Amino acid sequence: MAESDQSADVAWRDGIVPVSTRFDDPYFSLADGLAETRHVFLAGNGLPDRFCPGFRIAELGFGTGLNMLATLIAWQGAGCEGTLHYTSFEAFPMRAEEIARALQAFPEAEAVAGPFLAAWQAGHSCFTNGGLQVEVILGDARETLPAWQGQADAWFLDGFSPAKNPELWSEDLMCAVAGHTAPEGTFATYTAAGHVRRALQAAGFEVTRSPGHGRKRHMSSGKLRT
Ligand SMILES: C[S@@+](CC[C@H](N)C(=O)[O-])C[C@H]1O[C@@H](n2cnc3c(N)ncnc32)[C@H](O)[C@@H]1O
Repeated sequence: MAESDQSADVAWRDGIVPVSTRFDDPYFSLADGLAETRHVFLAGNGLPDRFCPGFRIAELGFGTGLNMLATLIAWQGAGCEGTLHYTSFEAFPMRAEEIARALQAFPEAEAVAGPFLAAWQAGHSCFTNGGLQVEVILGDARETLPAWQGQADAWFLDGFSPAKNPELWSEDLMCAVAGHTAPEGTFATYTAAGHVRRALQAAGFEVTRSPGHGRKRHMSSGKLRT
């Protein structure tokens, strides 16, 4: 994207899976990223059951937009009326051509990605895609999230692995996540790393560990304590 001073550095594993050379980590699961998104981020947040007009999702790490597109497919499948607000925080945006290439692995997501790819190619980080009002807030989430005026009903915590991208899982940032969560709001993430779970607990979430997707034994999800 033209507005960002730092874009992603991407290599391709097996010619299909984008891997960040900056973080040495893949953007999505090698074991069917779309299925993992549905298991971890959607089901982990009680979605699509909780969808209602005006529902707000926020995400750490926009990457290829696959989570956003999985959300769109779920929103359309649930026959929801109105708008879902999807806000994502991204420091190193991928180029439109890289995103388009990554999405080729997921024909279902690719089929609904047209408006997103056209907007991204044109340099827009705010766009509408079939019922979703999407805003990608560019910059380091450690600075942009505390400054965000919004709140989320559900959070997708999708940084690279905590070992390789520790700045996206810090105690301070998890506090900022909790501080931008609506009452009854939830989070979900693929990781069950102890320090991340403790940071989310300390931030104010009731944290649950449950079976992960594919070869991952556990994931984490939780609800804001009242
Ligand atoms: C695992 S990928 C996200 C995958 C994405 N959710 C998808 O659906 O394709 C992690 C993302 O976090 C971003 N990221 C890493 N550190 C960040 C930071 N400090 N602030 C904002 N984004 C960051 C990376 O650039 C990358 O796009």
